[in-house]
Amino acid sequence: MIVRILLAAGALCAASAPFGSFAAEPPKRVEVVASITSPSGILRIDVGLDENRASYAVSRLGVPVIKPSRLGFLLRNTEKLDRNLELTATATREADSTWELPWGERRTVRDRHRELRVTFTETQRLKRSFDVVFRAFDDGIGFRYEFPDQANLKDVIIDDELTEFDVATPGTAWWIPAGEWNRYEYLYNRTAITEVGQVHTPVTMRLDGGLHLAFHEAALVDYSSMWLRRVEGQRFRAQLAPASEGWKVRRTAPFHTPWRTIRIADSAAALYESDLELNLNEPNALGDVSWVVPSKYVGVWWEMHLGTKTWSTGRKHGATTANAKRHIDFAAKHGFRGVLVEGWNTGWDGQWFGDGNDFDFTRAAPGLDLEAVVAYARERGVRLVGHHETGGAVSHYESQLEAALDLYARLGIDQIKTGYVADAGQAERNDGDGVVRREWHDGQWMVNHHLRVVREAAKRRIAVNPHEPIKDTGLRRTWPNWVAREGARGQEYMAWGRPQNPPEHEPTLVFTRMLSGPMDFTPGLVSLMGEKNPIPSTLARQLALYVVIYSPIQMAADLPEHYEARPDALRFIKDVAVDWEQTRVLNGEVGDFVTIARRERGGDAWFLGSVTDENGRALDVPLSFLEPGRRYVAEIYRDGDGAHFESNRFAFATETREVASTDTLRVVLAPGGGQAVRFVPKR
Ligand code: NOJ
Ligand code: CA
Repeated sequence: MIVRILLAAGALCAASAPFGSFAAEPPKRVEVVASITSPSGILRIDVGLDENRASYAVSRLGVPVIKPSRLGFLLRNTEKLDRNLELTATATREADSTWELPWGERRTVRDRHRELRVTFTETQRLKRSFDVVFRAFDDGIGFRYEFPDQANLKDVIIDDELTEFDVATPGTAWWIPAGEWNRYEYLYNRTAITEVGQVHTPVTMRLDGGLHLAFHEAALVDYSSMWLRRVEGQRFRAQLAPASEGWKVRRTAPFHTPWRTIRIADSAAALYESDLELNLNEPNALGDVSWVVPSKYVGVWWEMHLGTKTWSTGRKHGATTANAKRHIDFAAKHGFRGVLVEGWNTGWDGQWFGDGNDFDFTRAAPGLDLEAVVAYARERGVRLVGHHETGGAVSHYESQLEAALDLYARLGIDQIKTGYVADAGQAERNDGDGVVRREWHDGQWMVNHHLRVVREAAKRRIAVNPHEPIKDTGLRRTWPNWVAREGARGQEYMAWGRPQNPPEHEPTLVFTRMLSGPMDFTPGLVSLMGEKNPIPSTLARQLALYVVIYSPIQMAADLPEHYEARPDALRFIKDVAVDWEQTRVLNGEVGDFVTIARRERGGDAWFLGSVTDENGRALDVPLSFLEPGRRYVAEIYRDGDGAHFESNRFAFATETREVASTDTLRVVLAPGGGQAVRFVPKR
């Protein structure tokens, strides 16, 4: 049914807008033409028209969250698509299903939503039409545009998407800048919403009154990434990453955009626990993915970041046969499945940093007997983790992609890390026409590149973990071999970052970057020493990160000798699971602290990780997540007395205690500290 009521758009709405107002102005007097509420009636989406321009608004329990905000497009070679619209059809649907993640933060995901499809058609001249499909969940909303096949809209060149998000209540935002050379590798800013600039998603906000929002997108396929740019006040507009051709996106109708998503929850914890974007992605396209194996790995890696070894050949070359075997021995002894060997191929001796045209992805560097190393690993039950650093020379990489993956498939390498250390954050594109083009790391061309790698890898049963990647938009549901990615400042910044990651970084990441999906964060730096500077973390915190920062592949990033020197810490890293039956965020505030408990897949043990910012704190954590009536041995790895991320990093204690679900655990965290716990059920 089409509802017709008038919706006031804030205090300034009394007077109606002059006819033909600019897109830069928010809707003034909106006639609500269709609405949908979430299954429990918590969220409501109102679709409106004002002077024949389309908008939507979102409220929660009757309180506005997103004020009426515009929809539409600026198109090339044709009139823009945002006015003279009328509503010509609506349709609603409901869904309530449960589906299974082959690996993940939890096994089962419930998809319960109500859908509203609205069709807008131009009243004049071209009579073009498009649909907007809205889905209302109890913990967030998503919507996307669908362009049907039609005579007057075929070759669609999008110069700008005009989607807006006008946040109704003042508050605080956590964000990183978009359209900058270092992609997603920035420290998060915490500012008033009115001080946000142009930002990547997910961007998280806490409104006055405590409501938490996270803006993002789902199923980013053959389209350009959405940045958000603040237009004025608290009003944001989609800003699509540009293509080298000057437009933002080029598609042929019929097609649809990715979902624009807003998680809406009354706590930071609930924001994290939402499965909104996964639910808006298509189901698994690969069928049986038992060949995607959640696991831990070590590698010839940290020593390059410390500068004691090099990727390039020569005296300090890290990827030698002997050094690879040393890591394989360590992995075999301690039960790590994978060994990454960076610098294994040729091409690292030139200017790889921002120019990877020298890389050969099928030829091992002198000093590394690849076949022998693979055989040595296999005999010990270990597998190499492949590595393809592209230096941003993406067309060059694509020209070798299939041969490179064939080589790995032949060698039994079933997981690769890729890298896109590109100059100015832009990849090199070479279409063979003699023109070298530069593409944003998150524009349509690179979005397509990443999916191409994932598909080619899937054909060969290889899992992919890109660094300097495209952001995660939940595509792991459709392509479960897309196991992790970087896409934020990881722990490499602890080696050489200026500054290094401060303690507030991880409790910020959990509620920002981690809302998008798994991160290859490379935890476990037990030596707590960077290239020149001590690492601003306690030892216990390095263990907690395995639970706090989710990934189905987790690196034990430090060197074998550093782990051998700390058997107490190594024990937790060996024991901790990487694949989960359930996940609970027990407490947390964005940028301040967080405690997460996860139950291992196919087992009864629970793991808990807790980290804090630069402030020490004591958190009382009810253990009600444990199975009632059962007794557990809690193996606690905690900050020792007087621990401090600057002055007393190694103060560390382990203890065991018997607990049950009715107990409360007092988790005492040092400044910059953390705690990790393994709960093993008693037989
Ligand atoms: C950047 C990646 O994040 C890092 O892990 C890797 O070692 C270097 N690129 C070299 O590929
Ligand atoms: Ca990186």
